[in-house]
Formats: sequence, structure tokens, C-alpha cells
Amino acid sequence: MVIVGGGPAGSLLLHILHNAGIDAIVLERQTRDYVLGRIRAGVLEWGTVEVLRANGLGRNMDAEGHVHDTINIAWRGSELLTVDTNLQMGRQMMGYGQTRIQKDLYDASDAVGSEIVFEADDVAIHDIETEAPWVTYCHNGVNERIDCDYVVGCDGFHGISRQTIPKSIRTEYLKEYPFGWLGILAETPPVPYLLYANHHRGFALCSSRNPMLARFYVQCELTDSVDDWSDDRFYEELTARLPADQVALISPAPSIEKSIAPLRSYVAEPLRHGRLFLAGDAAHIVPPTGAKGLNLAVADVHYLSQALMAVYAGNTSGINRYSDVALRRVWSAVRFSFWMTNLLHRFPGQTAFEQRTQEQELRYISSSPAAQQSLAEQYTGLPFETLGAD
Ligand code: APR
Ligand code: PHB
Repeated sequence: MVIVGGGPAGSLLLHILHNAGIDAIVLERQTRDYVLGRIRAGVLEWGTVEVLRANGLGRNMDAEGHVHDTINIAWRGSELLTVDTNLQMGRQMMGYGQTRIQKDLYDASDAVGSEIVFEADDVAIHDIETEAPWVTYCHNGVNERIDCDYVVGCDGFHGISRQTIPKSIRTEYLKEYPFGWLGILAETPPVPYLLYANHHRGFALCSSRNPMLARFYVQCELTDSVDDWSDDRFYEELTARLPADQVALISPAPSIEKSIAPLRSYVAEPLRHGRLFLAGDAAHIVPPTGAKGLNLAVADVHYLSQALMAVYAGNTSGINRYSDVALRRVWSAVRFSFWMTNLLHRFPGQTAFEQRTQEQELRYISSSPAAQQSLAEQYTGLPFETLGAD
């Protein structure tokens, strides 16, 4: 089997299949250091934690991760809404950065000898509608060809796999939001819980990577560049959007990374065409507000690996359900992330009326255990479905 893309989706799938004795190879366009250098989100649903543990990837996460059992939302500059997910749903979240997960995955691949080809150029997928697909690529100037049973596209939003599915078969759904997130990493003690903010100046978020590494975000203009944002300006804006007692928890320190990301929701359906399957960002993107991107990639891989293991054991029913089952979870996360994004951001041209209705929704959640339970249920992650049999 060929897996295109060695991000979290591709390298986790490789690891699970390799453990199951299924022959697979990952073709990754970038260098290992480049992939390991990318700063991404860091909140894991408990289902994700369990998938990682079940596949022998829990040791560092359990030692270094930070278990969260609350989601906190500051609003109107003075109110604080705390949703205790353990109380509401009996579930928690794990704070553990994607960068660390990626390192654990590459280290696991080294340890077991599974194969990842870095700097694989010009990857192309052929004859996907036949029983004998093949993949070509160029490595160290040499053209290579692999004949395989299946191809899995885990090559992210800008990858080539999705484009292999004819346009007449693919349906794409896209929503772009009129703002971005400016994020920084700073070596300073983080706020000890997840803290989101709705403020008339815009959204803000305080998260963490470890006890001495904080991750902060503020909503910014899509046209902004990081050069427009000195550290001083960043902290001024972040602290202006939070209540004073929360600001007291932040000791500003120089940023060691600073980047701007646009927010969008995107889904491509179906996740299967012939012998090609899509998983992770190759098929869907969510805005980071609900912390779902990595969790969805892991859920896709969980479903797909189960289905593929069944295929090699002689049962093809699960693989025929993969696209439908995975897409149900994708749409649930797409809807939830869209809702959280609408709840917490300041939209261009937002009227005082709209600001008040947003605040009223936050007031309602503050006072309603039912609303808190719904938020907690979705944030901590709905249970996985079973792929079932025909
Ligand atoms: N050939 C080979 N590899 C490719 C190609 C290509 N043509 N195009 C892209 N890639 C690689 C990228 O270099 C990247 O390492 O595919 C990988 C895709 O990784 P991600 O973008 O991290 O996507 P995924 O593994 O699905 O993980 C989803 O990442 O973007 C975040 O929020 C998202 O947390 C989520 C997670
Ligand atoms: C992060 O830690 O980077 C993070 C946390 C929660 C989010 C998004 C990003 O919703």
C-alpha cells in the first residue's frame, strides 16, 4: 500500500498498518526536519488519546501532556464561563502539541523500521479505477514506480491525491471566514487552562505546550502580515481582550514563533474513489476554533486502518463504508467548529445587535447545564462509530 504524505495522518496510518503486518510505505514531499518544525494545534479528544495509546504511542503523551477538564470562555471583558467537561460528560482533553505527536510517530517508525521516504518529488497516482494502481515519484534524481493494492492520500490540503479524483465525481464545500489567527509561541508559564475570549476587539485564545511554553492567539485581519505585529502590539491586544484577573496570569515573553493562518471550512466528498482513499486535511479543513483538525485526521485513520485490516483478513464490508462513516464525523466537527467560530469572533460590519445576541448565547451557556453538556460533548469528541458489516 502507498500512503502519500507523512504528516500525522499518513505516519499514524503507516504505524498502525505496520504493527498489523501490512506492507505500506509513506512518500513525503518535505524533509523530516521541515515536517517536525511545523507548529500546529495541541488539544486532543479522549478518543484520540485512546487511539494513540492503543498503538503504543502514549508514553511521552502521558508523561508530558497536560490533562484539561475545563473549557473557559471570557466575554464582555469581565465575565468568565467555565464548562467542566468532566462534570458534564465525564470526559477530559489532553493538551499535547501536534509537533510532539509527529516526533513520536517518526521515532516509532525508526524503532520498528517502517518506511518513510522523505523528499519524494513529483508523486503521481495512476490507474486508481483499476485493481492494480501504481504510484510514481522521483527521489534523489531517480524515477521510481511502486505497484500496489491501494493508495491513501494523506497529503494535506495542498496535496495531489484529491485532484486524482475526477471533478465529475467530487463535490467540494467551502466556507472562508473574513479574518485570520495570529499565533505566537513564547517561553513563559501558560495560563493553566484553555482560555478562549469573545471581545468586541476580537477573539483571543490562551493555550499551552508545556509548563514553560505558552501558545497565544488573537484574531487579526486577513491582510495583516506578521511584520505588522511586534510582540508589544500582540500582548497589548491579547490582554485588552481578557478580564483583568486572567491578564494577571500572563507574563509576556518574547515570541519564538509567530504566524498567521486563515480560517476556513472545507470538505471534499467522497473519501474514496476506486482504490484511492483520502484521510485528514487532504479531504477536509476546519477552522481551529473547535480544536478538531488533528482529531479528525486521527478519526479518519482509525476508521480506515480498521477497514484495511479487515480487507487483508478477507472482509471488505468495512472499506465500503469508510467514506460515509468518516464523513458523518467530519460534518459533525465542521458544524461544531463553524458554531464555535461564529460564537467567539468579531465579524467585519458586526452590528451592536449581533454583538448582543452573541453575548446572550454566552450568557445562556453560562446558565444552562444542558447547553454546557452539549458543548462539552462535542468539544471532547463524540464516540467513534463501528464500521459494521454489510
Ligand atoms: N507528495 C508527498 N507529500 C505531500 C504532497 C505531495 N504532493 N503534498 C503534501 N504532502 C505532505 C506535506 O508535506 C505534509 O507533510 O503531506 C503532509 C500532510 O500533512 P498535514 O498537512 O499535517 O495533514 P494531515 O496529516 O492530514 O494532518 C492534519 O494537520 O493541518 C493540520 O489542523 C490539521 O491538525 C491537523 C493535521
Ligand atoms: C492550540 O493549542 O494551538 C490550540 C488550542 C485550542 C484551539 C486551537 C489551537 O481551539
